[in-house]
Amino acid sequence: MKDDNFLKEENARHLWHPMGHPAALRETPPRIIRSAQGVSITDQEGHSAVDAVGGLWCVNLGYSNQKVKDAIAAQLQDLPYYSAFAGTTNPSAIEASHAVCEFFAEDGMARAFFTSGGSDSVDTALRLARQYHRLNGAPQRTKFLSLKKGYHGTHWGGASVNGNNRFRIGYEPLLPGCFHLPSPYTYRNPFDETDPATLAQKIAAAMEDEIAFQGAETIAAFIMEPIQGAGGVIVPDASFMKLMREICDRHGILLISDEVITGFGRTGHWSGARHWGVKPDMMTTAKGITSGYYPVGATLVSDKVAGVFEGAGAEGAIWHGYTYSAHPVGAAAVVATLKETLRLDLASNAAARGDQLFKGLQALAERHEIIGDMRGGHGLMAGLEIVSDRGSKTPMDAAGMARIHAATYEAGAMVRLGMHNILMSPPLVITEAEIDTILTALDTGLAAA
Ligand SMILES: Cc1ncc(COP(=O)(O)O)c(C=O)c1O
Repeated sequence: MKDDNFLKEENARHLWHPMGHPAALRETPPRIIRSAQGVSITDQEGHSAVDAVGGLWCVNLGYSNQKVKDAIAAQLQDLPYYSAFAGTTNPSAIEASHAVCEFFAEDGMARAFFTSGGSDSVDTALRLARQYHRLNGAPQRTKFLSLKKGYHGTHWGGASVNGNNRFRIGYEPLLPGCFHLPSPYTYRNPFDETDPATLAQKIAAAMEDEIAFQGAETIAAFIMEPIQGAGGVIVPDASFMKLMREICDRHGILLISDEVITGFGRTGHWSGARHWGVKPDMMTTAKGITSGYYPVGATLVSDKVAGVFEGAGAEGAIWHGYTYSAHPVGAAAVVATLKETLRLDLASNAAARGDQLFKGLQALAERHEIIGDMRGGHGLMAGLEIVSDRGSKTPMDAAGMARIHAATYEAGAMVRLGMHNILMSPPLVITEAEIDTILTALDTGLAAA
């Protein structure tokens, strides 16, 4: 490894970072995270902080899970790579597909298609949805519905169903035939509706209206996150996903549950759809599938979807896939991660620590006027919407958010900013004392706005 001076001089010189301005990052280089242990990260200056971001909603097992590290190392020795394109496979891929389908069996998932991450999983699901309808004799079903504020990655398909315009505008035109419904976001919505159950009904009515306008027979799938993550941790009413399921069923539209964040225990249940009592037709996963230790995703399909492909003639072949689909090292990471996820019962800890975090944030909202809205309470996902004025709901400016972020970090917790939202998704192994550290650090940070 090069010395400190080299790293500082070269920081952001040759690396274009995702989700950042290259010139701004050359001006103010990003913090170098050097190491991590348990749920804490340490930077190049030697400062440590509890990672309330969980890497990027993904390090569910924390940074020190030796079983997953050993599984990856062992697989590298046995078989570092081999293709899974039809004709060859590898033992870890077979085991991983069994493990993932077993993990989500209660959600009705029956087959897994491995990818290298969440964006891949989303695009895979969208493509398979179109092919499903084509195989079913409805090739005109090509359109997609999704929610504003939804985040579904940055490939062309995912960006097209994405509901946050900063990920879209610079890259337009996107895929034609994608239409967006209002988000179940009670703090700001076009209906001026603050009651979550009524808002859910209004969005359902808007969906029916859009389906009637487009023609149900032209729509392939509706994709949604059970709890919207990157859009600001937007928790819908408990009725919402069931309403969406019912409308999709009535119109022959596939329901894709984007579980890239919510899968594997984050909501306090093993999947977000299960949290709301819904069985989707497809699930998209990544992140917690390897706790972020190796880039893997998986698109899962139900028996109904699988049956159509497997019962079809030559057109049932899947002409889609990635060099690293079912990568042996990634698959070994999946097998070990799922075992550890279940052994440590991460969903139960997420539920308990999520309650603690939410109650702590409620207490902070009583003391800090700049907290306009506070969201979470369903496992370890939480969001604070920061405003400069509660009455007018004016979003806090970027400089104020940067001050909060820096002061929180100095006080011992790394949080994530999403515009004027503070987003939290700590590792699911986090302890009571570590949640308290996050809350205390945030208290300091909010005072620095
Ligand atoms: C719900 C959801 N879908 C898809 C993605 C894209 O995943 P990736 O960044 O691994 O491509 C993300 C990433 O945060 C996500 O939160």
